[in-house]
Amino acid sequence: MHFEHHMLREIKEQPAVLAALAKRGQLLLEKDGGGLFGFDDPEGASFQRILFLSCGSSYHASLAGKWMVETFAGLCCQVEYAHEYRLSPPLPLENCLVVGLSQSGETLDTLEAMRKAKQAGARILSICNVANSTAISLAHTAFLLEAGPEKAVASTKVVSAQLAAVFLLALRLGIAHGRLPQEFVQKHVQNLMDIPNQLSTVLQNDSFSKEVALALHEAKQLLIVGKGLAYAIALEGALKLKETCYLHAEAFAGGEFRHGPMALVEPTVPTLLLMPSLPQESFELMQGTAREIRERAGPLWVLTQKRPETLGEADAQLYFLPQADAFLSTFLFLAPLQTLAYHLAHGRGLNVDSPRGLCKAVVADP
Ligand code: M6R
Repeated sequence: MHFEHHMLREIKEQPAVLAALAKRGQLLLEKDGGGLFGFDDPEGASFQRILFLSCGSSYHASLAGKWMVETFAGLCCQVEYAHEYRLSPPLPLENCLVVGLSQSGETLDTLEAMRKAKQAGARILSICNVANSTAISLAHTAFLLEAGPEKAVASTKVVSAQLAAVFLLALRLGIAHGRLPQEFVQKHVQNLMDIPNQLSTVLQNDSFSKEVALALHEAKQLLIVGKGLAYAIALEGALKLKETCYLHAEAFAGGEFRHGPMALVEPTVPTLLLMPSLPQESFELMQGTAREIRERAGPLWVLTQKRPETLGEADAQLYFLPQADAFLSTFLFLAPLQTLAYHLAHGRGLNVDSPRGLCKAVVADP
């Protein structure tokens, strides 16, 4: 009988999960956003700042959310690890929407952080995949991801669902603040609707993850570099590789790489660059990073949508993804990293669905 790991099945479920969320996104075109996030336009317009509280993969989705909220809604947005926020000085949070982002809705740090933010006067929105979870019950309002149960400890389809949810939230806040014309919203919802097909193609033609997993079989480390939204994806990819493959994968923001980490590069240390073609300025800066890595003879893989001019045929192994807008490319870059983690863990004979020492939800303090 053929056995499929939960992690692989959940990775493959992503196009369907995103299609369902994109469909819900059409509610944005209705009055008051069809009630999608539980606030009407006047209340949405009253939020002057946004604070995401989360841990692990949910934190990485929150970082992507910050880019989206700041771009679409023009609001100042902050992202804090929930465990750090718990210990931070208690500052007032009037006119602030706090988003508790959590797959399980039971992560103790995130729950405690949400409680603290509530006390400080924030409006609390829980974005969560589990109905009847504690996060949903303590929040003022909730958005249920409806991605279906996620059994593998390593979160995959829920991270994609979180990214889609924060994308919709950013548009919703932009509408409430009167910044986004109807045609703009329509176009972005349509872009999201196109992603499931593109993602299916990426998952079907996945030479990247199989080849790189083979090359990394004995590896002890991997550097992953991305800028902007691709940095959030680099962090998430590195976490997947740590938790499922026990590989010391470390993510760096493109600009930061030159401020120290570049010294790690040498012929035995491989680097993976995430290079979406948009924004153009980020792509160009990453081309410079690619050149500098090759000058140090570092082995290089590049996941991209466009050939970097600074790299010759022999300089790097290039893998191409379909073109998409700057925000939605995040889904296309994330999936190959998830499948890379899966294939590497499987190839190493590890327990893919239940990595050592980890559990699905961290519900108590150490
Ligand atoms: O259920 P949550 O989203 O609140 O969990 C947060 C983290 O514990 C979780 O994302 C963890 O990092 C996963 N194992 C990542 O795959």
